Amino acid sequence: MDTNINSEDIKVLIADASHERYVDEILDTISAAAKVRGTGIAKRTHEYVAQKMREGKAVIALYNDEFAGFCYIESWGNKQYVANSGLIVADKFRRHGLAKRIKQTAFNLSRKMWPEAKLFGLTSGGAVMKINTELGYVPVPFSELTDDEAFWKGCQGCVNHDVLMRTDRRYCICTAMLYDPAKHK
Ligand SMILES: CC(C)(COP(=O)(O)OP(=O)(O)OC[C@H]1O[C@@H](n2cnc3c(N)ncnc32)[C@H](O)[C@@H]1OP(=O)(O)O)[C@@H](O)C(=O)NCCC(=O)NCCS
Repeated sequence: MDTNINSEDIKVLIADASHERYVDEILDTISAAAKVRGTGIAKRTHEYVAQKMREGKAVIALYNDEFAGFCYIESWGNKQYVANSGLIVADKFRRHGLAKRIKQTAFNLSRKMWPEAKLFGLTSGGAVMKINTELGYVPVPFSELTDDEAFWKGCQGCVNHDVLMRTDRRYCICTAMLYDPAKHK
């Protein structure tokens, strides 16, 4: 944690086409963090992330003009499910509550775009579990997630993919978490 940074100076915004210049830095930061954690990572191309920005389906955090954090949303299974993916906070901005702000913004955006959809995520990180729990997510078995093949393809780059395959997609190392809007009426 960098104590010289005042978290109020970090802006959290819905990204748009003007933020495309940050895409390579975002992808490099995600790859470097995955290496440190020893996990694999869903492969995302420059174009895929840039398109998310153009569609207003990404959240970016900036400290002046410096990249601080990111996440995007995607819908699966005919828009019945929405996942927040690619959450990253650059090293020097960690432990300032920034991931929490980014996730809250992505959560609000997802609820607005697809009010009926169930929100879900797969994670092995304690910080994300904590944030998701605060947002109203609960841990669920994998059988309650989308069966959209395209979503599960994202797990192919993970070092634990063999576990997922061996168990017929019923279990893996990550915890599945779900927010069901029907339970929050
Ligand atoms: C995980 C990550 C996004 C957290 O970002 P951050 O801005 O430092 O998180 P926040 O400051 O918002 O912390 C949120 C909560 O998690 C806790 N937390 C933060 N990092 C943590 C860690 N490494 N282990 C356990 N708890 C952690 C915080 O104390 C805080 O809890 P609190 O509300 O009780 O104070 C960041 O460390 C990161 O980018 N890591 C690499 C990529 C990654 O793991 N992405 C998630 C993939 S699912």
